[in-house]
Amino acid sequence: MNAQAKPLQLALAAALVFGLGMAPAQAANPCSPCAAKTKNPCGAGAKIDPKAITRPAGYKSYKGDQAALLKEGKALWSDTKLSTNGLSCNTCHQGHAAFNASFAKPYPHFVQMTQDQAGLKKVHLDEMVQACLVMPMATKPLSWESRELAALTAYTAEMQKSFKPSKGKAANPCAAKNPCAAKNPCAAKK
Ligand code: HEC
Repeated sequence: MNAQAKPLQLALAAALVFGLGMAPAQAANPCSPCAAKTKNPCGAGAKIDPKAITRPAGYKSYKGDQAALLKEGKALWSDTKLSTNGLSCNTCHQGHAAFNASFAKPYPHFVQMTQDQAGLKKVHLDEMVQACLVMPMATKPLSWESRELAALTAYTAEMQKSFKPSKGKAANPCAAKNPCAAKNPCAAKK
């Protein structure tokens, strides 16, 4: 790239952003730069069967030593083998990334993604773990009574304690490392 190319690119980027703000209907699809990047890790909002991520009747979660569960959960959190697309929980959620304000609330609660893709009004934390496995990680849910699910849930609950929703971050989701961090990049500016 030569020295002259850069200002031109910046001008184009500015024009794109400006254009989006002014006339969203006419602008080129603002999401295309994100969506074009290989397979959209958010599954492009594909619908899933809510049963896959809903606690079964009579469900009892695995109970075990809390410290051992946390230790195992921490390891699983960064394990890309849990997914079919090379992602681990940590890929998206490192340093509390990709969480929305709802994560700060006690479970069960409303989560945009599980509402949009599974039509669920509320989820428990273990259901949310399953939801991220099935949707962004494109795999099967863990067995409900498994130690692995209890471990990931315990570790995620621990992480929730230090989570503070930050306001006004990531104005342009397409510029973020993780485009999924935004609820819906296309809905950004009305
Ligand atoms: C490709 C990115 C991606 C991966 C990988 C991923 N998640 Fe998520 N996760 C998201 C997004 C996006 C949200 C925000 C959903 C929303 O608020 O609508 C989210 C939200 C969550 C939430 C909070 C929901 C709430 O607001 O209460 C939890 C808990 C969670 N993920 C757990 C996990 C776990 C555990 C894993 C690994 C098994 C994982 N995630 C893997 C993208 C990902």
